[in-house]
Amino acid sequence: MSAPEFTRPAPVDVVHHSHLTGVFEPQREEVDVGGLDVIGELPGDLQGAYLRNGPNPRFDPIGSYIYPLDGDGMVHRVEVTGGTARYTNRFVRTPMVEAEEKAGHVIWPGVTDLYTPGVEEVGPELAGRPRELPDINVVRHSGRLLAMAETSLPYRLNPEDLSTLGPDNCDGAMSVGSTAHPKIDPVTGEMVLFNYMLEAPYLTWSVVAADGSAARPPTAVDGVDTPLMIHDMALTRRYIVLMLCPLVFDMAAVLTGGSVLDWRPEKGTRIALIPRDGGRVRWLTCDAYWVWHFANAFDLPDGRVSVDYVEWTYPGGFAKAPAPSTGSLVRVVIDPESGHLTKDVMSDRDVEFPRVDDRELAAPHRAIATVGKLDVSRGRQDSLWFFDTVRGTQCHWDPGSVSVGEPIFMPGAQHEYWGMIGTDRNDMSSWFFVLPAEDPGSGPMAKVRLPIRVPAGLHGAWLPAQ
Ligand SMILES: [Fe+2]
Repeated sequence: MSAPEFTRPAPVDVVHHSHLTGVFEPQREEVDVGGLDVIGELPGDLQGAYLRNGPNPRFDPIGSYIYPLDGDGMVHRVEVTGGTARYTNRFVRTPMVEAEEKAGHVIWPGVTDLYTPGVEEVGPELAGRPRELPDINVVRHSGRLLAMAETSLPYRLNPEDLSTLGPDNCDGAMSVGSTAHPKIDPVTGEMVLFNYMLEAPYLTWSVVAADGSAARPPTAVDGVDTPLMIHDMALTRRYIVLMLCPLVFDMAAVLTGGSVLDWRPEKGTRIALIPRDGGRVRWLTCDAYWVWHFANAFDLPDGRVSVDYVEWTYPGGFAKAPAPSTGSLVRVVIDPESGHLTKDVMSDRDVEFPRVDDRELAAPHRAIATVGKLDVSRGRQDSLWFFDTVRGTQCHWDPGSVSVGEPIFMPGAQHEYWGMIGTDRNDMSSWFFVLPAEDPGSGPMAKVRLPIRVPAGLHGAWLPAQ
């Protein structure tokens, strides 16, 4: 039941909201179209599907809309077969989306608004529950195709038509939820994940075996006494790497009209190395910084751990600070025994969405691709940046008037590629780009015209044909 002091909030001003207009404007149409027009040539050795999730509210929101936390999920798929392409998109239909579709209008508010609908409006099953948000990522593991949320359960999708099958706790490996960024070890086939909670024990980790069974149920991480927001993780053969930045949930502040998340830099950022064999957690404390995303991590022969990630001075949008937050691609090398740490900056160009070849996760990787900022007047995601970690070189692709999303590595039978979706800010046409991994700075070898506009979104995966 909704608390009596919280009333149904007013509509969000969608016309003037920066994350509900332009390349972010929600798409409400669902289509399935084959034989798409291609400029250039799609490589014949590339067989599979590129999938991407992202916030896309089913109806114009009420209360608040905080990107990237709010919005319903919409999964976009570009299937590539024999040099041809097919596009399909579907909403992730949670019970909340279904109830709103039945009503024909929005019912649930944004994530920071405490109003929830009552039993008279949505029935006893949904009354008092917040909106579920499986809109962040999409992963495939052990036959499950999962639209991932943060802190709540993923929703399983039908891999044929992307229809929603329902929430899935992965054989109990997830109790109440999971990070949106679980990591799949390409050697063992295990999917390793963590989950943070507002109540003790605040942080757990779990393992789903290659066959889909729960290899480790949710296991408390000792040494965490505060509810913190933690978005991503890294994995090595020996460790789970978590960075506990001081973005603290403050529920008491919410009840007095304050912010649900409070940036407390005086607490510093704590790095946890959690042995995958269940051994003692190693902790290091540094000056405060913020992390959304990791590229990858791996063990060095001498026992140290190398971690590549994007480091921000503070979480923009969630913390008051005198200067803009800047994002850098960083490599940190940690000695788990001495606690000694060295840090090198690979790029300070406000990069984000770092990705590697997923076959190299938990091992040394050859390359990292990110989105970045080339021209400050064009917005953040105006270019793609590629870092060759073997040669120590970097290059970029300037897509002109196109805003580009997360690059995904796509291995073909003979060659390797990077794929991503972008939208032209001039005419709002959306495209699927294929770049050669050998020389990504040369730009796309093929661009596929998508039949509808695809809003700028978050994360996804390349699913090789099986
Ligand atoms: Fe993310």
